[in-house]
Amino acid sequence: MFEQLKPQPADKILTLMQTYREDPRADKIDLGVGVYKNAQGVTPVMRAIKAAEHRLWEEQETKSYVGLLGDPAFSDAMIDLVLGDAVPRASVAAAATPGGTGAVRQAFEMIQYGNPKARVFVSDPTWPNHISILNYLGIETVAYRYFDSETGGVDFDGMLADLDQAQPGDVILLHGCCHNPTGANLNPVQWQEVIAVLKKTQAIPMIDIAYQGFGDGLDEDAAATRAVAAAMPETLIAASCSKNFGIYRERTGLLMAVSQGGANTGIARDTLAFLNRQNFSFPPDHGARLVTMILTDPELRADWAAELEEVRLSMLGLRKQLADELQKLTGSDRFAFLGQHRGMFSRLGTSPEMVEKLRADHGVYMVGDSRMNIAGLNARTVPVLAQAIVSAGI
Ligand code: LMR
Repeated sequence: MFEQLKPQPADKILTLMQTYREDPRADKIDLGVGVYKNAQGVTPVMRAIKAAEHRLWEEQETKSYVGLLGDPAFSDAMIDLVLGDAVPRASVAAAATPGGTGAVRQAFEMIQYGNPKARVFVSDPTWPNHISILNYLGIETVAYRYFDSETGGVDFDGMLADLDQAQPGDVILLHGCCHNPTGANLNPVQWQEVIAVLKKTQAIPMIDIAYQGFGDGLDEDAAATRAVAAAMPETLIAASCSKNFGIYRERTGLLMAVSQGGANTGIARDTLAFLNRQNFSFPPDHGARLVTMILTDPELRADWAAELEEVRLSMLGLRKQLADELQKLTGSDRFAFLGQHRGMFSRLGTSPEMVEKLRADHGVYMVGDSRMNIAGLNARTVPVLAQAIVSAGI
């Protein structure tokens, strides 16, 4: 049987990670995989996570199974973080999942289970693994215009025109904040227009929120998700704790199914438990427990929020430095959009050939679609990158 297996295309982001590791150049710059790094190039364990781990080690008396949906305290804490009081708690069914990717995967499975004919509308571009999982599950995708490479912003008219084509029961996948891979985001007025199209088409919104706290702040980054969930009869939300808690390898995420009025919360909850059981039984608990401890302990929470804010501001500072540096070198505002983007990523908007040239000639590693992880920079490497971009003739 094994000889029948078909080779799969390698994941571009993960391949790039490996190529970078193998590059012997000392001055190489890694702007690939979406992992936060501090000025020393280290992805630190956050202070509050360390403290919670210490406490957990002392207090935890069993590692027996929790439940198919994970610990309800984790769901409560995360629902509060993501949704605040936008919707009544009783209208939200939630399941802990292995990371944000697990939440995305379970959401797609729920969509397919509930409506095998549903199409999923995805931004062009979106996180490549969205498309990969949808293709794997045999769910039809429809791309909607999103990034305008001329301006580095959102092609909002194109986006609205394409979303308008959705049929009742179709799903529209939106990035709650810090769009991956482009860094270009909608403003609050534009979100209201998207909500109007959702209402008009009766499509179901699915929001992937993997970078809450990396853009404009914890509440600011959740505002669009809250507005959509409050306005629509049904919303799916896949949240990740990988980045904002820095617990990438613990695989900690939550899938929320909001049904207004709460009429379908019970069946949604049973379905989420069933789907977890089919795929992996019990979701991982360690990261979820740390997150719960932090979010429910005022001191730990304040320390976590303060460190997250340092992370956010450091990325904003790097964006501004890069935009200024490029302004200085080119004498134009062509790259000003880099300072306006939010989150970990920015799409430079250049060709794969140029991306390859940057790698070969300058040791700069970015994803082939010219996505840069801004957190891969530091004050010393920003001018080096800016010079490389200009020398390559971008
Ligand atoms: C990324 O986009 O780089 C991250 O979300 C990591 C991943 O799994 O691709």
